[in-house]
Amino acid sequence: MAVNAYRETTEALLLPRIIRLGRNLYGAAFTLMKLVPARHILLKAERDGALGPATTIVETTSGTFGLALAMQAALMKRPLVLVSDPVIDPPLLRRLTDLGARVEICAEPAEVGGFQEARLKRLAEIRAEQPDSFCPEQYENPDNPASYSIVAEHIERTLGSVDCLVGPVGSGGSMCGIARALRSGGRQVHAVGVDSHHSVLFGQPDGHRTLRGLGNSLMPGNLDHRTFDEVHWCTAAEAFGATRLLHSTSALFQGPTSGAAYLAARWWAERTPDAKVLVMLPDEGYRYQETVYDDAWLAAHELTGALPAAPADVADPTVPSDRWSRYAWGRRALAEVRRTAGHAGGAGPFAEGTR
Ligand SMILES: Cc1ncc(COP(=O)(O)O)c(C=O)c1O
Repeated sequence: MAVNAYRETTEALLLPRIIRLGRNLYGAAFTLMKLVPARHILLKAERDGALGPATTIVETTSGTFGLALAMQAALMKRPLVLVSDPVIDPPLLRRLTDLGARVEICAEPAEVGGFQEARLKRLAEIRAEQPDSFCPEQYENPDNPASYSIVAEHIERTLGSVDCLVGPVGSGGSMCGIARALRSGGRQVHAVGVDSHHSVLFGQPDGHRTLRGLGNSLMPGNLDHRTFDEVHWCTAAEAFGATRLLHSTSALFQGPTSGAAYLAARWWAERTPDAKVLVMLPDEGYRYQETVYDDAWLAAHELTGALPAAPADVADPTVPSDRWSRYAWGRRALAEVRRTAGHAGGAGPFAEGTR
């Protein structure tokens, strides 16, 4: 019997390679993690009739979700409009347009919510002008986290069980979706989310962030705070340094959100030697060759320096700091953590025992 051994691009690149990085530490190295929700959402919309032959796909993104959508839309021969901002890097912009996407750049940030809010406003205008449109809405669409069950199955097939899952958080889709699926059989999986300072995701006030791809200016509906046992925040310099460390020690050429997650995962695995730890490494390093992988660029932007050996434990996670920090979130809602932090006040020793 003939077997179709071929797959289309987005399907062939979908699942991560599971790579051993240390005695008890494994990496899930993706080519482009966002292919998982992009492919799932667009194919489902086509099946459900929400995405007809002439429907325009519209989305707001300045990162890898746009690239994943552009790849999938090109394969499905669907028009795609992406609303982005000036932070989008020229190589990504060139790839998007090569894939046939129309990219609209919002020049000015909104007063509240920054560029993300400005992009959402422009997206709403485009949708009003173009009634036959479909928006994947990665921040709110429950199909984003749901799409990751295929990754959880792959992890279980490859590693059996996992004791600790570490990963960067942007929309919340990947970490919440994978943790939920891994825990569905009743397994205990400790989830560590990695954010950047000045991101609103885990309660800090919005501010300027050099590290992109994780963190957010607006709270995504797909972020279920109760997924997380522990949250880490790091600076751009620390994430970039860890990205380079991952490359120089493991020959894994990944992007800076992978580095941020690796920073926390490496430390966690070392201090918990009996646990099997898996770290999510969402994209490859090619986009960052002129920045994260360029020593002169790092020095010019004052983004160099030795990596701290451990995070600073904080009692109030809502206060941004200028170094890698950590808080025992304890699978609580944000409001609950805020209340506790309000009582605890400023910095203080990390309370063990919430794990
Ligand atoms: C490179 C990269 N890493 C990590 C993330 C965070 O993943 P999620 O949105 O699933 O939380 C994103 C989100 O856009 C990303 O682009």
